[in-house]
Amino acid sequence: ASGGRLVVVSNRVAMPREVATGGLASAMRAALAERGGLWFGWSGKVTERPQMHRSHEGGIDYVTIDLDRADYCDYYAGFANRALWPLFHYRPDLVDYQRSHLEGYLRVNRLFAQKLAKLLRPDDVLWVHDYHLIPLAAMLRELGVRNRIGFFLHIPLPAAELLIVLPRHRELLGTLASYDLVGLHTVRDLRALENYFLHEIGGAMRPGGRLRAPDGRVFQAGVFPISIDTAAVAQAARDSVKLPAVQQLKESVQDRALIIGVDRLDYSKGLPQRFAAFAQLLEETPELRQQVIYLQIAPPSRSDVPEYRNLRRELERAAGHINGKYATPDWVPIRYVNQSFPHEVLSGYYRAARVGLVTPLRDGMNLVAKEYVASQNPEDPGVLVLSRFAGAAQELGDTLLVNPADLTEVTEALVRALSMSLRERKARWRAMMDVLEKHDLTAWRESFLEALYATRLVQAPSP
Ligand code: UDP
Ligand code: G6P
Repeated sequence: ASGGRLVVVSNRVAMPREVATGGLASAMRAALAERGGLWFGWSGKVTERPQMHRSHEGGIDYVTIDLDRADYCDYYAGFANRALWPLFHYRPDLVDYQRSHLEGYLRVNRLFAQKLAKLLRPDDVLWVHDYHLIPLAAMLRELGVRNRIGFFLHIPLPAAELLIVLPRHRELLGTLASYDLVGLHTVRDLRALENYFLHEIGGAMRPGGRLRAPDGRVFQAGVFPISIDTAAVAQAARDSVKLPAVQQLKESVQDRALIIGVDRLDYSKGLPQRFAAFAQLLEETPELRQQVIYLQIAPPSRSDVPEYRNLRRELERAAGHINGKYATPDWVPIRYVNQSFPHEVLSGYYRAARVGLVTPLRDGMNLVAKEYVASQNPEDPGVLVLSRFAGAAQELGDTLLVNPADLTEVTEALVRALSMSLRERKARWRAMMDVLEKHDLTAWRESFLEALYATRLVQAPSP
């Protein structure tokens, strides 16, 4: 069974030579590059005459479909990113549920299922990704697809108390039972799933981490923390010294300490709080003024969703305000950059930074935290300041963990990071690098696929 083709399905597909901002696209690009397979998803285009696009490059077949305007608005900018995303990131206050959005979400999932079913071979193994496509397996099963299908959720799965806020949540989340395997980043996410399935769906636990739905379907659930290609990131960081962009950054920073943040412009990333913590650092530690520079790379994301536009305005104001207050003719404290950069450049930027500041309010994993660690110079590593609410905190316990809502805790961690001895920096870095070398992207992919191959094909009744 393990000889079949791997078919990856996700809303976002990282096409060759495009910068893949977002953990899913970054990770699956690297995971498929080594393994090969078919990648099916949205083309990223919105048109009135949707088409299907096929291409092949580097051992990967790409098949993508366009969305029409209504589908894009209801499914992507609507239900996925104004209901599921905020709710799953513990922001019920930002949920804007509309029935038409849910209907569009189901419609696009059905469209994906119909198009995909026609491409499948009997021994293909399917791996579906993320919150955009929760009901996909159920719809494929309705079309008679009996292949093994795994699902991986890249974002947190919140407590049942939050999930029940979503209208028709049972109808949606109950479809997870149509997968053979459901993977999550952390034990906390897995507990939330089990608890929800037991108490809201009326399911039952079975031995070996399996869950049974009331209609008898059984699926496996497990923890698979996503990771990075650690060796490749470390190599890219070593090679990055040659890149003009990296040299220019270093020259402009001179001997000051660089603090770096890299996040999609998303409210889950805690950017206003991070800016405020940095301002507090400047206010309370005047001796650091002139001595530190905070570079925040924040490529715009989902700009058709109002909450993202509001956040962008808020951050522009905050950066302008802080720079206006503290800057001098020869020094600007915050460099706020709304641009995306390719991985090679980012790894050089991470290596040039004394501190990696990663403070999401909630995050499924956060690959930037792992990339920052893997990019460091072993002889003189920087320090990661990491939110305890990122999935990565479960594995990177040797870093400085903070609660991003506690500005004083963040400023204290920054002071500590900036003054940490070489000996302590090396010890903490080595411990984290050991984790990342052992649990890299290949290990993640293989452990998920092994678990998927180990499940029995019990989903569809024999015709
Ligand atoms: N990224 C990138 N260029 C950028 C900004 C981000 O390639 O300008 C990548 C980053 O290296 C990481 C991913 O986007 O691999 C972000 O993943 P993460 O898990 O940190 O957050 P997400 O965006 O998935 O919420
Ligand atoms: C997160 C999600 C991904 C998504 C990415 C970028 O990583 O888990 O599913 O692809 O953000 O967001 P976008 O809406 O641009 O795909």
